[in-house]
Amino acid sequence: MTVPDTQAPPADGVEAHFERTIERDQRVEPRDWMPGRYRTTMVRQIAQHAHSEIIGMQPEGAWITRAPSLRRKAILLAKVQDEAGHGLYLYSAAETLGADRADLTRRLISGRQKYSSIFNYPTTTFADVGVIGWLVDGAAICNQVPLCRSSYGPYARAMVRICKEESFHQRQGYEMLMCLMRGTPAQREMVQDAVDRWWWPSLMMFGPPDADSTHTAQSMAWKIKRHTNDELRQRFVDMTVPQARALGVTLPDPDLRWNEERGHHDFGEIDWSELKRVISGDGPCNAERIEVRRAAHEDGAWVREAAAAHAAKQADTAGREGMEA
Ligand SMILES: [Fe+2]
Ligand SMILES: [Fe+2]
Repeated sequence: MTVPDTQAPPADGVEAHFERTIERDQRVEPRDWMPGRYRTTMVRQIAQHAHSEIIGMQPEGAWITRAPSLRRKAILLAKVQDEAGHGLYLYSAAETLGADRADLTRRLISGRQKYSSIFNYPTTTFADVGVIGWLVDGAAICNQVPLCRSSYGPYARAMVRICKEESFHQRQGYEMLMCLMRGTPAQREMVQDAVDRWWWPSLMMFGPPDADSTHTAQSMAWKIKRHTNDELRQRFVDMTVPQARALGVTLPDPDLRWNEERGHHDFGEIDWSELKRVISGDGPCNAERIEVRRAAHEDGAWVREAAAAHAAKQADTAGREGMEA
């Protein structure tokens, strides 16, 4: 375990200072004292987020070579590269808490740390790329915009830039779907089929219902989470229904309807057993995703070794020059 339990034994007043920082809505910075559990929770949250960005490159990356035009290929390449960038910012943010990136990668590959369950579903047609942009990046935006106000400074700041890029991802997906919906009946069917497959897994991205969510209360108190899973899920549904109508697709839920009294859409029961199954490793693509990640990591070993050798050489030269001076 590379994450220290606490940074230093709290001297008089540091704990009160931490509490005040949270209470006043100020940011906790890497140099500040923080409770060991806050640090561990933050590392877990950031690592899980970083892993999701990196694994999330796979389902869409698989379509880069098969994009139907140069324009679509360029957009998709840019999007997938953005996700790699998000992963890198986030691993860096985790390192400010004392985590070690190589260790986090080992934990991902060995299954000890999770990533978003959504990336364990296959992308079977090019319409999936559009639907992922619209629904999956759309859900990610709902989840991540409030995190720009996370109490942990480096995470909050990384999230500002990430959210800007996520809104490009959402728009490119929606724009592609609008194009396809103006196309042939077969293209429209392809979009509807993708929506049918991705709708429910997208709702699961917000995590288990509040009643079963183990981390929510403490995370809300520490302001590393600003809204509950169910609140965010509701926001996503309310935002998406008019977009589906504008596109001309049907969301696959017979119970989905506007509730005048609540001022929100009601929607059907989510199959929580499916979420549990996919999280615990038994989704359609879990094994494949980890295998691809493991192979990529092993293939990159020579790059890491070369970079380390170069850094050692630089340090050695700088040391010798220092002695000569
Ligand atoms: Fe991302
Ligand atoms: Fe994205």
